[in-house]
Amino acid sequence: MFDATNVSYDTQIPNNVGLSGDRRVLKALERWHPGYIDWWKNLGPEGFQEHMVYLRTAVSVDPKGWARFDYVKMPEYRWGILLAPQVEGRTIPFGQHYGEPAWQEVPGEYRAMLRRLIVIQGDTEPASVEQQRHLGATAPSLYDLRNLFQVNVEEGRHLWAMVYLLHKYFGADGREEADGLLQRQSGSAEAPRMLGAFNEATPDWLSFFMFTFFTDRDGKMQLESLAQSGFDPLSRTCRFMLTEEAHHMFVGETGVGRTIQRTCEAMVQAGIDDPYEIEKVRALGVIDLPTIQKKLNLHFTLSLDLFGAEVSTNAANAFNAGIKGRYQETKIDDDHKLTDATYPVAEFRDGRIEIVDMPALSAINMRLRDDYVRDAAGGVKRWNAIIAKTGVNFEMTLPHEAFNRKIGTFAPAHVTPAGEVLSADAWNAGRDEWLPSAADGEFIASLMKPETEPGKYAGWIAPPKIGIDNKPGDFEYVKLHDA
Ligand SMILES: [Fe+2]
Ligand SMILES: [Fe+2]
Repeated sequence: MFDATNVSYDTQIPNNVGLSGDRRVLKALERWHPGYIDWWKNLGPEGFQEHMVYLRTAVSVDPKGWARFDYVKMPEYRWGILLAPQVEGRTIPFGQHYGEPAWQEVPGEYRAMLRRLIVIQGDTEPASVEQQRHLGATAPSLYDLRNLFQVNVEEGRHLWAMVYLLHKYFGADGREEADGLLQRQSGSAEAPRMLGAFNEATPDWLSFFMFTFFTDRDGKMQLESLAQSGFDPLSRTCRFMLTEEAHHMFVGETGVGRTIQRTCEAMVQAGIDDPYEIEKVRALGVIDLPTIQKKLNLHFTLSLDLFGAEVSTNAANAFNAGIKGRYQETKIDDDHKLTDATYPVAEFRDGRIEIVDMPALSAINMRLRDDYVRDAAGGVKRWNAIIAKTGVNFEMTLPHEAFNRKIGTFAPAHVTPAGEVLSADAWNAGRDEWLPSAADGEFIASLMKPETEPGKYAGWIAPPKIGIDNKPGDFEYVKLHDA
């Protein structure tokens, strides 16, 4: 019996799935590995491949102590295959197979559906690494640089997680899909990544923080619902990925929080009461709060689009099949089959936003999105507490769900962040008040100067409260000078 808690290093690919006893899959992964390393070197973090970075690596899936911190060159990071421990006697927690034993092999009738979901999830992982590859050059501190790279190597590991499932359970077409994950490229005209938000640029560090707050949180919700899957290997993979995902959202929430804090402190110090005195605030070398709000608006709306159409037959089928459940499915008190249940869905009809009761089964995406919005709202509340503490009079808000949408019922609508429906012309006239303008982007870019001295921070962002792995303030998270 292999040890399913601790990570085995007896093959080139660290794992807790007994890979050394599974020659076929081991061979397939070893064949895939060089292409992955090529991808990492060509499209991963630019300019820091030879530097020592203080990173955590999973050495166990035991929640009490899975991480070990050490200096490593990123291309030598031990990407591995880690599944949460199998739960004895686990049953399918929803859908028409509710209560049946969880599947350890792919059920033939759901093979195509499962493969599609795994490929879509897998496609997002390398995409975000590609989107963030230029950020190292403008990091506001070594602490932030390390955090960026930690997120990047873990997204790389998430790709490995999905590729393992494809190789292990989907034969020749799985192999083809695994290759495809290295062929598509974020923002490419010929072979873009599958989802819109993953083809957008991440031009500056505020975008990175907003992305890890909003888009990685969509990732969390998707993983949460796949962690409910009746296909047990997918469930176990996603459960472990969620433990890594928590750090990504920490990076996002604290990154935005520290940006807000620095702005407020600078305003107070300069005696500026009105957050809308944008030029005066910008002259202090910090990002004015209304511009931070615009970035929030943009990233929130991009991430809402990731949940797909509000009413979806695909989502209904995946739920019915026991493949993709709801957020915290096992904690919900209902029949877990949604036979007669309804769910309120927002719809854009005749130029108006209406709430309509729909069969809950077809409103699975909408429900997950609502859970997501609640989860994100908690972080916004904590940002507002930072502002309030400084005495500055300003509140960040999540825009209305109909604002700036490209997918679903609101795609053709022109709605303000407050939820007011406008004509296309009126909306376009107001656009730059609600979303970052080219000038806003240029201003933020002008602040993006690297700070590479240990313990120092760029002027637009406050230092963190505590170091990573409890390291002191001047810890050298990335060794830039002796590569
Ligand atoms: Fe991920
Ligand atoms: Fe992530």
